[in-house]
Amino acid sequence: MIADFAKKLETVINFIPPIPVVIVELLKALNDENANMNDIARIIAKDPPMSMNVLKVANSAFYRLTNKVATVDHAVRMLGVKELGMICVSCGAYQALKPPADSETFDINEFWKHSVATGVIAKKICAELSVGDKNTIYFGGLLHDIGKVVLDRFAHEVYKIVIQVTHEECLPMIEAEKRIIGESHDTIGGMIMERWKFPFALADVARYHHAIALCPEETRPTVAVCALADELARVRYFGFGGDRSGIVLEETEAFRSLHTISPTIANVDVFKFLCDLETVDEEIVEMEKILTT
Ligand SMILES: [Fe+2]
Ligand SMILES: [Fe+2]
Repeated sequence: MIADFAKKLETVINFIPPIPVVIVELLKALNDENANMNDIARIIAKDPPMSMNVLKVANSAFYRLTNKVATVDHAVRMLGVKELGMICVSCGAYQALKPPADSETFDINEFWKHSVATGVIAKKICAELSVGDKNTIYFGGLLHDIGKVVLDRFAHEVYKIVIQVTHEECLPMIEAEKRIIGESHDTIGGMIMERWKFPFALADVARYHHAIALCPEETRPTVAVCALADELARVRYFGFGGDRSGIVLEETEAFRSLHTISPTIANVDVFKFLCDLETVDEEIVEMEKILTT
């Protein structure tokens, strides 16, 4: 029965609507070294809801810009091509997977809060350890669990059972997913990102954030930073769906992998690092609101 369901799920993934054209164009431009600010601004301006989101994000406390940003051109100049382009890609992914009203199995706002927290914390770890590219890492963190939304959206009835089992047995979601569906959100997240032709580093974060050892060497630092941020987000109570929060950080696979990549992590005062995160709590809540409205 599980095998049947996993097969069906693969078919479902192939029917998931392609990401909107504007996102495809943006991803192409972001990967093109010759693309400039004007190209990016032109693509965003073609899509009014996306332009609105860009202005909302640029004027949010998250970026602490002193002057009000009134045009997409200005936003691109202030935040940079990569940062802004990826904000649009994330909003697009959210919109494409948005569940119909009143039909979600889990609290979608909590989900995005966890996702934003993971992105923000990942960026902080990246700065602390000088590992990886901060934009890729931020968006990797933001989208790491996207497979959960896909499962809830397209395998709704069976995902309800997964959530129930997660709560009743206090299981990590990934284990309940494997037991009941035969596939888990990491694999599904990797599949959807590949289908949408997202940068491969982001697809690898989705696919390997629970199995860093299996990740190709090239993207392992990015994946390990996001996986550690995922653990820290849960420790900071930006958790989701029954995942455990009482963990010994140093014993996690994410910490051990990062230690191999960047031994200076041993010098980081984890307690202080976690206390310092209090300063970004407000930004996390605000960014989550922007993404989900
Ligand atoms: Fe996950
Ligand atoms: Fe997560």
